[in-house]
Amino acid sequence: MPSVHVSEAIRKHGADVLLRGWVHRKRQSGGIIFLVLRDVTGLIQVAVKKDTVSLESWSAAESASIESSIEVSGTVKEDKRSPTGFELAASSFSMVGMSEPFPITEYQSTELLLDKRHLWLRSQKMTAAMKARSFVFKYAREFLDKKGFFEITPPILTRAGGETGANLFETDFFGRKAYLTESSQLYAEAMIFSLEKVYTLAPSFRAELSRTTKHLAEYWHLEPEMAYYDNKMSMSLQERLVSHIAKNLAKNNEEMLKEFGVSKDDLLKIKPPFKKLSYEEALGAINDKGFVLKWGDDFGVEHEKALTEWEEKPVFVYNWPKEIKPFYMPINPEDPRTVLCSDLQAPKGHGEIIGGSERIWKIEELRDRMQDVEKTKGIKFNMANYEWWIDLRRYGSVPHAGFGMGMERIIKWLLNLDHIRDAIPFPRMSNRLEP
Ligand code: 4AD
Ligand code: MG
Repeated sequence: MPSVHVSEAIRKHGADVLLRGWVHRKRQSGGIIFLVLRDVTGLIQVAVKKDTVSLESWSAAESASIESSIEVSGTVKEDKRSPTGFELAASSFSMVGMSEPFPITEYQSTELLLDKRHLWLRSQKMTAAMKARSFVFKYAREFLDKKGFFEITPPILTRAGGETGANLFETDFFGRKAYLTESSQLYAEAMIFSLEKVYTLAPSFRAELSRTTKHLAEYWHLEPEMAYYDNKMSMSLQERLVSHIAKNLAKNNEEMLKEFGVSKDDLLKIKPPFKKLSYEEALGAINDKGFVLKWGDDFGVEHEKALTEWEEKPVFVYNWPKEIKPFYMPINPEDPRTVLCSDLQAPKGHGEIIGGSERIWKIEELRDRMQDVEKTKGIKFNMANYEWWIDLRRYGSVPHAGFGMGMERIIKWLLNLDHIRDAIPFPRMSNRLEP
């Protein structure tokens, strides 16, 4: 008999089925062993009765420990008393792989769960989070593919930093210094000259020591880059992308959302247009909540929270002071103190989910801006490493814009997770490199 999954067995209740899964719970009551079997689709109670199965089946069920992998056949019946609503009356039971005593029991410290991450991934919560992650990746790709984007693959080992350059992981590349990429943007830019609209979905690395609930040292970064776009067009694309992801999670994955207490209706409210505040307006809104930020200050965690605490949808903050944004962003002709860019802040203080901007596309303007950044920030670009990227401005340059979305940031917000580490299977943080 071919095996079926729990969800299908429930649909076919009454029929004879074979299930394969893992022991989630177990108790014995005289001549009956009750187990809860878990597979990718869910849980079902299994009842093994001593007087209706063979001796082999009975002793296999007796020896089955939590997390043993098992095969059971029998008939599924609706059973109101069962914790799963259905029960499989076993006609045969066999062990696939016995489990040693499982090191994770009910009340465990966060540290232990992180040390045993490879096993904790089997929990109901992590299973739901990992399914949601897979769907968020799928919906993001689906949206961009439909809009005519090409997915491209960037190098991970690079010579030049794309953002501040301050948080680069350095590595040895056959005797030369190399870095793990902090953004694929510069490479995505190179590819718009043939493919026009492209995106990368790849890891970015940030050697950030700060331990917050929003920072990973290795995260997955979605970076679309579009020829002939300005930042207004880019913001419009961003809100439609975010809304597509939220809407599809709500429509297709309601069961999974329940695990996190997230309501489908709340996700369906995330529709364009999103609120758009200039940096100055956002500053005012934050100071109205009792803060004393000055023009030119960056926003911290508590300011972001003040700005978004009561919002149902993300909020754009556009055109930031040039001193706190990277070298590739063009000066705003209407207010030269600012650059043409935007950050998208998630509701309820979940933080920045997207950062994006127009890109300087004229070579003289780029040289001026890089020199200005060197002067005001007291840094020195190693121009040799950027020469190829500057070259793009020499051969038929065009206006363009793009953005970067932190995949774990958007998952953290959509699932309302307390910590970003639960949005990725094997988190890398300053204090965590294993497993
Ligand atoms: O704002 P960032 O640094 O922008 C860039 O890297 C641009 N080059 C993107 C582009 O225009 N192509 O990073 C973009 C996003 C942030 O908004 C945030 O969502 C996420 O990446 N991010 C992080 N996510 C997890 N852990 C970290 N340490 C992150 N740093 C940034
Ligand atoms: Mg940013």
